[in-house]
Amino acid sequence: MLETVYGTITVSRKKKFEKTLYSDKDGIRFATPQVVAQYRAKRIKYKTLADISCGIGGQVIFFAKECDFVYAVEIDPQKIEYARKNCELHGIDNVEFICGDALSTDVIRQIPKVDIIFSDPARPAEENKRQVVSLEPGIPNVISAYSGKTDNFAFEAPPQMPPQRIPFDCEREYMSLNGQLNRLTLYFGNLKQCECSAVSLPCGAHISSTNTACIMNETQTPKTYAYEPEPSVIKADLLPQLAGSIKHDSGNIDLELFTIDKKRLLLTSGIPIRHTMLKNHYSIIQVTDFEPAAINSLLKKHDVGTVVLRAGVDPAEYWTIRNKIENGLSGKNTIHLFVKNKKAILCKVI
Ligand SMILES: C[S@@+](CC[C@H](N)C(=O)[O-])C[C@H]1O[C@@H](n2cnc3c(N)ncnc32)[C@H](O)[C@@H]1O
Repeated sequence: MLETVYGTITVSRKKKFEKTLYSDKDGIRFATPQVVAQYRAKRIKYKTLADISCGIGGQVIFFAKECDFVYAVEIDPQKIEYARKNCELHGIDNVEFICGDALSTDVIRQIPKVDIIFSDPARPAEENKRQVVSLEPGIPNVISAYSGKTDNFAFEAPPQMPPQRIPFDCEREYMSLNGQLNRLTLYFGNLKQCECSAVSLPCGAHISSTNTACIMNETQTPKTYAYEPEPSVIKADLLPQLAGSIKHDSGNIDLELFTIDKKRLLLTSGIPIRHTMLKNHYSIIQVTDFEPAAINSLLKKHDVGTVVLRAGVDPAEYWTIRNKIENGLSGKNTIHLFVKNKKAILCKVI
């Protein structure tokens, strides 16, 4: 199994937590993965913090490791018991657990003035369009209920929401984990450092709206090299800042945008570059008509064993196309195959 080293611990890419947590199915599904929880706890490292919708405590464990004292509130009695046991499992003794509705006067009364109020609210399991009004407890209600305790709030929100759909004066920090869009955190008050930022975990690379931007031209013809930006950068609308940062590191290079389709885009340049906010670096070995049988012969010539099909293919035809492309391949190379306007772009990871 692939493994990722983060700080001093090793977290398997497939496991959410290094130690197996006590939980029901729901609690573990919505718990913040350890690598994200650790990153966030380090960023919100203050003396006192209240997590007012703590679930099974996936995030609280790591807040407690960074803060002097943490208040953990949860409406569901079963979940708060899991949170208590999970903190015990980690040898944590600086958390006070409060079971109740975070918006009730009884719970608010029990929380003293703190440096930070954090909430990772519940959200519907499925929604056609993610929106802040579906979060429970709601962000405006939490800010109004706890405004006497602090000015510094942080909230988790669904990362599918673009920055424009978040109607608050806050920083919107999009995170990708192992190359997939994973989390969005909203920072208010002194926690806000900029309008928008993107983080790539586990490496911790970061880019923000304060970086110098550089507008890229759109091209219809890919150059010798292609790059896939971290999805957090795309979601945060920070491609111009990424281009500015690459140009700063690599000199005045010919970087252009090459949009594949609504879901996929590449950057392309005539010279090789490396950047921590690029999740894949490719050299383009051929652009040809998207004819599966002809592509198969071409791949054999390039000693390919594995093809990663990166195209919007009709699901009904997916396996037929894939089988034709992969038929008899046994080479040592892996190719990513993108399709744009019926042209196949064969990319080798470098
Ligand atoms: C997404 S989960 C939190 C997961 C948590 N961050 C973790 O890492 O384990 C949201 C939690 O908010 C709780 N919740 C929803 N409304 C609440 C309220 N009004 N007061 C307190 N907790 C609430 C839900 O019961 C649920 O456990």
